[in-house]
Amino acid sequence: MSDNHNTIDDLMLENRKFPPSAQFKRQALVAGTELYDEAAEDYQGFWARQAADLLTWSTDWNTICEWNLPYAKWFLGGQLNVSYNCLDRHVEAGRGDKVAFYWEGEPGDARVLTYADLLDEVQRLANALKDLGVQRGDRVNIYLPMIPEAAVAMLACARIGAAHSVVFGGFSAQSLSDRINDAEAKVLITADGGHRRGEVFPLKPAADDALVSAPTIEHVIVVRRGGNDVEMVTGRDHWYHDLIAAADPVCPAEPMDAEQLLFLLYTSGTTGKPKGIMHTTGGYLTQVAFTHKYVFDLHPDTDVFWCTADVGWVTGHSYIVYGPLANGATSVMYEGVPNFPGNDRLWAIIEKYKVTKFYTAPTAIRTFMKWGAAEPEKHDLSSLRVLGSVGEPINPEAWMWYHEHIGAGTCPVVDTWWQTETGGIMISPLPGATTTKPGSATFPLPGIGVEVVDDSGKRVEQGGGYLTLTQPWPGMLRGIWGDPQRYFDTYWSRYEGRYFAGDGCKLDDEGYLWLLGRVDDVMNVSGHRISTTEVESALVSHPAVAEAAVVGALDDTTGQAIIAYVTLRGGSDVDIAELRDHVATEIGAIAKPKTIYFTADLPKTRSGKIMRRLLRDVAEGRNLGDTTTLADASVVGELQRRAAEATVED
Ligand code: WTA
Repeated sequence: MSDNHNTIDDLMLENRKFPPSAQFKRQALVAGTELYDEAAEDYQGFWARQAADLLTWSTDWNTICEWNLPYAKWFLGGQLNVSYNCLDRHVEAGRGDKVAFYWEGEPGDARVLTYADLLDEVQRLANALKDLGVQRGDRVNIYLPMIPEAAVAMLACARIGAAHSVVFGGFSAQSLSDRINDAEAKVLITADGGHRRGEVFPLKPAADDALVSAPTIEHVIVVRRGGNDVEMVTGRDHWYHDLIAAADPVCPAEPMDAEQLLFLLYTSGTTGKPKGIMHTTGGYLTQVAFTHKYVFDLHPDTDVFWCTADVGWVTGHSYIVYGPLANGATSVMYEGVPNFPGNDRLWAIIEKYKVTKFYTAPTAIRTFMKWGAAEPEKHDLSSLRVLGSVGEPINPEAWMWYHEHIGAGTCPVVDTWWQTETGGIMISPLPGATTTKPGSATFPLPGIGVEVVDDSGKRVEQGGGYLTLTQPWPGMLRGIWGDPQRYFDTYWSRYEGRYFAGDGCKLDDEGYLWLLGRVDDVMNVSGHRISTTEVESALVSHPAVAEAAVVGALDDTTGQAIIAYVTLRGGSDVDIAELRDHVATEIGAIAKPKTIYFTADLPKTRSGKIMRRLLRDVAEGRNLGDTTTLADASVVGELQRRAAEATVED
């Protein structure tokens, strides 16, 4: 054990263990250590075998990995086309009638798209883009609701070697124009509007506003979805359906270099202007195909996979579009919110399409807990085989709830840690091979190098520290668009030779990894460095609590004091003193919140992550900074009002 026990304190103890059942193991793709053993011998050779097995290349590579820290290039000399790998080769193999997407609109309309359907539409749109002047190396912005055309647009770009930059449809005109300008995109693909919470939300008017200050856009393609009135600018704006109808139906997939830019995806991080994360072709597709196949134990002939993320986030890129399609899988894609028309919409969809693999976020799971187990009980969820989680640390109680109430106590839960920057899943169980512990993402996947280090960069064998990645991986970001210095400073300057992920992490006595949240969120209470995640998990382990957000607020005596914001499960009640004692019993008196506020909702980013920075501002009585990335700004006003009224407990 190292002497760095104070880097982040290790408070929470979770002893429950879930080995894969014998029944699950019997049908699993991997039930032993073979992939880990192979990768431990030669990680680059391992990834090369995956690239060869999972993808179709038009030219073989000559170098597996060229590593000039901090820049990696994978499969140099190799050529392939991503859209060929996701579409043509499945159709050529006689699987054109296989369903690629069961798409479900929020109002209840539905579409079924086969691989042949997708290939046809992608070729047409690719030709339409070419006709509008898009060439290899250009950037195309995509600003769409959750409709199949989003996947078509991404694949059409990939087919002709243009990089896409998808902007989440919930972002404002300003966010869109910032991203268009940074990428200097030539074409924007948008829609009139989409359906959300029972209403049509307009997108084209926001796009029009954005374009006032986005001069690089020459053409706009508009999908008709919302049916709302829009203005079309002659010469600039084109209806998607007109272009598709008029387009040449054949657009051969051209081979691209393995390192051809596939997409930019902007991530804001905690501060500063959004970073355009760069992902390329061969390595990225290898990693997303590999992880989609093995983490979800994919059986493509029988599985119906559903990732509930929006295509505007990296999870949607990798596990709605590229991973599942590269593997020839059948997926569900859903347009709307989980509570329209009722709180059981997702469970109704699982029942309708007999979903087998379900991938969602802790924030959603905690919301389902709040709504109560009666909602999933209304539906037959017996088709489910594996449940996944991504986006935040999952609290052990949320994991247990997911396991019991959605997975009937039998589905393995895979808690997957990764980032926009990593392209694909990095730390996760393999469901047929790994004994899971609720709240732990368990171990790095085969071929991935992870170490926890202390402040000085020394390796931590047990206890808390910072998560670092020790070797290049195929899906890693290739840089920040237009800003190499920021790329180096953000990820490679803190520890020499290591990628700094920005997350706290602890290792337990069996080598399991427990993610502790963003390093910026770690609290310092009387010299103890306490992770917000652990205190939140202690709160969520109380039967009355659905969700908790914890922040450190400046305190004269202790440096920082722990302030907690708590939402209760439907119909529950509990008093503050009991909750504070509960935390003390679970993890120790040092972690007892000084103040607890009950609230109906927590401030979250649009991708569902709790915005602790805002809660810190509220707790310290500061004016709020930038709230534009907040999903529901009214939540914070309410909390501010109550903070002003509150009397602090001691
Ligand atoms: C957090 C989402 C704990 C983490 C794919 C990371 C997680 C950030 C997990 C990246 C997990 C994601 N356990 N924390 N399983 N998955 N995170 O770029 O802080 O939207 O650094 O990518 O989410 O968020 P991003």
